[in-house]
Amino acid sequence: GHHVSSQRIRFQRRNRPCRYDIDRFTPNFLSIFESLMPSEEEIAKQKQLLTSLSRLINTEWPNSKLYLYGSCANSFGFSNSDIDLCLSIDDKEMSKVDIILKLADILQAGNLQNIQPLTRARVPIVKLMDPETGLSCDICVNNLLAVVNTKLLRDYAQIDRRLRQLAFIVKHWAKIRCVNETYQGTLSSYAYVIMCIHLLQLRRILPCLQEMEATYYVKVDENNCAYFDQVEKLNNYGAHNRDTISRLLWAFFHYWAYEHDYTRDVISIRTGRIISKERKDWTRRVGNDRHLICIEDPFEISHDLGRVVDKFTIKILREEFERAANILQFDPNPSITLFEPY
Ligand code: GTP
Ligand code: MG
Repeated sequence: GHHVSSQRIRFQRRNRPCRYDIDRFTPNFLSIFESLMPSEEEIAKQKQLLTSLSRLINTEWPNSKLYLYGSCANSFGFSNSDIDLCLSIDDKEMSKVDIILKLADILQAGNLQNIQPLTRARVPIVKLMDPETGLSCDICVNNLLAVVNTKLLRDYAQIDRRLRQLAFIVKHWAKIRCVNETYQGTLSSYAYVIMCIHLLQLRRILPCLQEMEATYYVKVDENNCAYFDQVEKLNNYGAHNRDTISRLLWAFFHYWAYEHDYTRDVISIRTGRIISKERKDWTRRVGNDRHLICIEDPFEISHDLGRVVDKFTIKILREEFERAANILQFDPNPSITLFEPY
């Protein structure tokens, strides 16, 4: 019947070898990567803004500290992306909303522009624009887990340059194909980077830092965050594997189109392996968490980064993975066709 034959097709594709001439496209993919990278000048401006905002906020709250997190600090940021900042402050008198409102006043007095406190968002933030640098940013309060997972991503990126290349191209594809919008039921940039780390761990291009002896340790809320962070000692780790960016892109999309077992598997960069949904009790819908694609957060392990995906968007995502896998396998110009707008 139909069922059997479609299973047979999927099974054959599981073992499909990569096209022999895939490496022809490596220069094209590398030049796309380079065109997305922020310039030195832009990075300097981001640092300048961090310094001037820290100074301004510290005069009012001497015990506070401002951190960069997200794409401008995790090394997966494109040119011209917004800046994510996190204010860490220990003030038992004030609620998060009070802190956000007072922060907005401090910024107003400091001549920053377009200040908008968003106190009712899931993560309350203040938005602002700095007229000196022209940069826009969001400041959240006491979201230290994001600061720590930013460091983990940045540390992984230092081990092998191919992680940054792969994640840039996957993010670029996801933005163009409109599958990088969590409020519409597709995945965050953070989730895509974790999917890339997972692939490189399976191919032994990256180690599993959380399984190694911890040299860095912090406790954030109830989460123990510990891992080996002396990554400069690991910069030969993946050298035995000579896969190019083209081959890894093919492997990434082939994995998510044909190899990943959506009914059973959870990807976990914390353990460097696939773990079972059963073991995590992620087999059925709980509240709004549907667990149709399971991506374990490395520190908040009860948190599935795929929880936003629903029964409609899982189809969209899987069709996009298959489209990309097939383009990389058969298209004469994959570095163009892959990025055709949705
Ligand atoms: P772009 O802005 O799309 O370039 O990427 P980004 O790296 O800023 O990613 P994103 O906006 O998805 O997330 C920003 C940061 O917030 C990430 O680097 C994480 O530190 C953090 N973050 C995002 N989503 C989650 C989540 O679901 N759980 C946790 N713990 N942290 C998250
Ligand atoms: Mg961001």
